[in-house]
Amino acid sequence: MSKADLSKQPAQVAAMFDQVSTRYDRTNAVLSAGNAALWRVATTRAVAPRAGETILDVAAGTGTSSASLARNGASVVAADFSEGMIEVGRRRQADNPFVRFVQADATALPFDDDSFDAVTVSFGLRNIVDPKKALAEFYRVVRPGGRVVVCEFSQPPLAPIRAGYAAYLKYGMPVLARVASSNPAAYEYLMESIQAWPDQQALAGWLREAGFERVAYRNLTAGIVALHRGFKPERAVVEEAPKAAPAAKPKAASKPRTAPKPKPKPEAAAASNPKPAAAPKPSAKPGTQGKAAQAKPAQPKATQPKPAAAPKPASASKPKPTATQKPKPKPTDSASAVPSEGE
Ligand SMILES: C[S@@+](CC[C@H](N)C(=O)[O-])C[C@H]1O[C@@H](n2cnc3c(N)ncnc32)[C@H](O)[C@@H]1O
Repeated sequence: MSKADLSKQPAQVAAMFDQVSTRYDRTNAVLSAGNAALWRVATTRAVAPRAGETILDVAAGTGTSSASLARNGASVVAADFSEGMIEVGRRRQADNPFVRFVQADATALPFDDDSFDAVTVSFGLRNIVDPKKALAEFYRVVRPGGRVVVCEFSQPPLAPIRAGYAAYLKYGMPVLARVASSNPAAYEYLMESIQAWPDQQALAGWLREAGFERVAYRNLTAGIVALHRGFKPERAVVEEAPKAAPAAKPKAASKPRTAPKPKPKPEAAAASNPKPAAAPKPSAKPGTQGKAAQAKPAQPKATQPKPAAAPKPASASKPKPTATQKPKPKPTDSASAVPSEGE
């Protein structure tokens, strides 16, 4: 496939990733000079997954990001539309009960509303043909109060670094891609897509447009990559005004109130009897469940799907903390994990 063919049509993007799937992670490590592993650690810290939480990793590819997210006992659904990437991921994560692959298009996710504690995407949003539609889907499937974390290439704010990086993309990366990748044309596409991608502030604006609040970002590696995070607002509960004597408390009675935040869930290592990655709740939309999802029967959570808008019970079926606790992940609002700019 030549670079000219990769005109960002969904089928062509999927085919391109099918082709690079077997050497994808190695090529990443080479092209990023080892930084890819550091970016993953930063992303996982920003998501701050806790044991028993259900995390959606969109455009998960071979599931390297998903495995990192699942390390503390969170159940991770790794969604991607490239069969090739998923196949490699399934093989690599075959022994990991916390990661479950689902073939799905990010712009039409086969999951119910409010299904996940967090939604994240690493180096995937830029490849999605309609990224704003994908952000709207992330908003729909994350629960009120849940978070979204986007890790993506961005634009270094300092001019000399920006110039050096542009030179690397133009001259260095194609050479390295020819050595390391099974499809160098795909990496020319990568260069073009990075250059065409919006900067930090613009992406933060997209997240706000999608409905996320408290949007902030943090630059990694001088802004070559940026981590954005936002939260879905808690569901607003409108109190019914009392019918009798409305004059007594007119303001409090009619003012919309924000629902209380769910209690923090226990931060624990994997339970001794680990819970496999949660099966995504079936979508109301017929026919959107990918065939890859059917290939490996999942452990269905419940035979009766919840009504789409029902809030998720706070801690039902969460594994209990065990004595073998790993170091606690940083809480979601911890200063070092939180993107620090653009709030
Ligand atoms: C650069 S890879 C990133 C993989 C992984 N998140 C990582 O960090 O290594 C981009 C992935 O996005 C996936 N992708 C692109 N468009 C998609 C879409 N509309 N729906 C689902 N996955 C998509 C591709 O199949 C590919 O696996």
